[in-house]
Amino acid sequence: MERSDDFAISRRGALVGTAAAVAIGATASVTAQTPHHPSVPQPTRLSVSLKVNGKREAMELDTRTTLLDALRDHLHLTGTKKGCDHGQCGACTVLVDGKRINSCLTLAVMHQGDEITTIEGLGQPGNLHPMQAAFVKHDGYQCGYCTPGQICSAIAVLGEIEAGVPSHVSGSLTDRPTATNDEMRERMSGNICRCGAYSNILEAMTEVAGAKV
Ligand code: FES
Ligand code: FES
Repeated sequence: MERSDDFAISRRGALVGTAAAVAIGATASVTAQTPHHPSVPQPTRLSVSLKVNGKREAMELDTRTTLLDALRDHLHLTGTKKGCDHGQCGACTVLVDGKRINSCLTLAVMHQGDEITTIEGLGQPGNLHPMQAAFVKHDGYQCGYCTPGQICSAIAVLGEIEAGVPSHVSGSLTDRPTATNDEMRERMSGNICRCGAYSNILEAMTEVAGAKV
């Protein structure tokens, strides 16, 4: 009898002990399975000041923010489009200090103090930039997704030609460029239009180039 009680106690004790051990084991196992994040570095944020369409804009940005995302997501200037986000389509083209740039390929923090012009800053309905008006007149778009980038690029291209910036057309260096079809096509080759409005875009550019002469 005594032995039986002892046995019962010891068995109860064993069961309690086992349960405790299982609980501890389970806790240990959970602890072991919980991924250990030593110290995940926090994103670095910086104050960035840009002049966008003539207006000074100050933002606190993750240093990894592209200029494109700063414009679209932080300043809500959604006229600039995100196509590929990899520098392959030209939809995100904006003007930085007068030069065209793929805004998806550059970080906003690299443009402290720079003057950025987006499609919104070129003109507005009723007061269009000549290139915008020419695109409308010549049907230089269909769906319009690539159009802001095309227009920014087209303006910069005519500026490049006027300034004599050399380019490679048909494999040879053109050091005194003029606004020929080949010259403009070559320089616009980074702006892709899935709707194929290329010939109309060229007509629009030709008209604006002619007006400049
Ligand atoms: S979105 Fe920038 S090049 Fe395509
Ligand atoms: S107008 Fe549709 S992609 Fe160019």
